This record gives sequence, structure tokens and C-alpha cells, in this order.
Amino acid sequence: MSMRPSVALAVEHRPGVDREFLGDVVRGLTNLPKTLDPRWLYDDLGSSLFEAICRLPWYRITRAEMALLARHAPAIAEGLGPAPAIIELGPGSGEKLACIVAAVVERRGRPDVHLVDVSGQALQMARQTLGTFPGVEPVLHEQSYERGLERAVAATQAGRRVVAFLGSNLGNFDPPDAVVLLQSIARVLSAGDQLLLGLDLVKPDRDLLLAYADPLGVTAAFNLNLLQRINRELGGSFDLRRFEHEARWNHDASRVEMHLASRARQDVRIVSADLVVAFERGETIWTESSYKFEAGDVPLMGERAGFAVRQQWVDRDAGFALTLLDRLE
Ligand code: TRP
Repeated sequence: MSMRPSVALAVEHRPGVDREFLGDVVRGLTNLPKTLDPRWLYDDLGSSLFEAICRLPWYRITRAEMALLARHAPAIAEGLGPAPAIIELGPGSGEKLACIVAAVVERRGRPDVHLVDVSGQALQMARQTLGTFPGVEPVLHEQSYERGLERAVAATQAGRRVVAFLGSNLGNFDPPDAVVLLQSIARVLSAGDQLLLGLDLVKPDRDLLLAYADPLGVTAAFNLNLLQRINRELGGSFDLRRFEHEARWNHDASRVEMHLASRARQDVRIVSADLVVAFERGETIWTESSYKFEAGDVPLMGERAGFAVRQQWVDRDAGFALTLLDRLE
């Protein structure tokens, strides 16, 4: 099929279109099974919906992690040197980092703070939250994790950095990619730098499915909003009522899979891509995976990337682990 050339042409004639988004959407929807890259879930509305997910009673990750941070931020701050730099990948509202910053301000003085996120909206929210600390002026990097981290690292001092990667965001990568990402974090860091990793643990299926298909439908709205974004930004013709959110627990792969299932046999046009996508009834677009871990997996993953565990704090009831790792020599 001569799909690619016609896409390139269409892009050249539409200067308002984000070429990366368009390229990802075309690639994903011409895949079998159909997929969409989850990073596009986080437009302004998507980021707000995600903030709402974090407040749902069935989604315990955020509260469990906040409680662990509140309890152990003093120990984390003690372990840092003077004038440390705190870099967070995917800060969301910034509330979690505020916990650490408060402890550091008290014990180590004002830290340099760098925030990396693909969502400008999330960065603004986080800046507001952290702006409440006098003299703390977060530097914002509206970029992918890798690119933003590189810039943040270049602006800070070796051996004094802690990279916070929370919210089980590492769990949204397939295991080989997760290791590659950890390795690329290790590569830009220096000996003495640290990594603070928050990961969700395996728990009963029922709890996992409630967390990712909540009875209020907020997670469904978050997932469906990606189709709305395609409609708005790429001239898509998705009828959102003809798709439904689906969460599945894949026991063998130890992951929750998020899908958008077509309720009918239908064709969807995407004008900017000059593309018509055919859906069978029940066919899905796989939008996200959320891997679940055992606490003991973290040291092994860390080792493969050049980190050693310094300390681990586990909330057994909520099933969540916060792990502090050292970048090795
Ligand atoms: N890092 C979060 C997680 O895996 C992201 C997330 C939560 C998410 N709920 C979602 C992603 C629903 C897609 C759909 O828990």
C-alpha cells in the first residue's frame, strides 16, 4: 500500500498538524493489533482527567505513594548532599515532589528543581504547587523523558542529583523498554546520583480491574479522550459513543491492558492522514499497559541498568513499593 507517501504529502500541506502525533497515529492504527502510543493521552483535558483518576477511591497508587513519601522524605533528604538537584520525570500536579522538596528545604537548603513532562498543562500545575516554596524556581522541560532528562542533567551537578520517577510510570513501558529507559537514565547520571522509583505491585485481579475501569467512568473518559484528540487535531471522525473503554488483566504478562473496543463494524476517517481505518465489531485499539511488579523485581531491574538499591519502603496493604537506588561507579 502507498500509505506513507500520501501521509507525507498530507503533512506538508497542513502546517498546524503535529507531525509526530500524526506519524504515531498512522503507525498505530495500521498495526495489527491496532495500538496508540499512550503519551498522547495527556493533552490538557487528558491531564486533568488523569488528576481526577488519582483522586478516585479505586485508584490507590497516588495516595499510597504520597503516604510513603510523607513518611520517608526526611530519610531521602538526609541521604542527599548539600545543594542537591531534584529532577522529576512526569511530575503530574507536583504534589508528590512537594513532599520531597519540603524535606530537602528543611535539611539541605534550597534544591534546584527540574521537571520533565510532555504535557505543558501538567508542568504548569506542578510549577504552581512547587512555587509555594520561597526561592524554589522549577525549570520546566516540555519534552520526552530522555530529552528532558539530558537537559536537566546538563544543568545540574554530578553526584548531587536525585531523579524521581514515580506513579508507577515505569510500569507503562514493556519490560525490555523499561530496562532501556533505566539504562538511559543511568547513562546520563554520575556515580553518587540517585533514582527514586515508585512501582505498583501485583494485587488481586478485582482490585486491579477496579483501578483501571472505575465505576465512575473517569478512566473511560481519559482513554476515550484520545479519540477526541485525534478528531480535533487530525480531523478524525471517531464517534466516541461507538467505542468503549476496556481494562484486562493479563496474568502471564503481569500487566493491566487498556483498550478501546469498537462497539460495531465501522470505518473511521482521519483527514490529515488521508486514511480510512476499518474496525471489526469488538476489535480494539490497545492504548496502554500498566505492568505490576513484585517488590523483589526492583533490585534486579535496577542492577541490569547500573543501579543498586539503597532502601526500599513497601506499603503491603495498598501494594506499592518506593525504592531508592544509587547510580553505581
Ligand atoms: N502510570 C499510571 C498507571 O499505570 C498511568 C495510568 C493510570 C493510566 N490509569 C490509567 C494509563 C488509565 C492509561 C489509562 O497506573
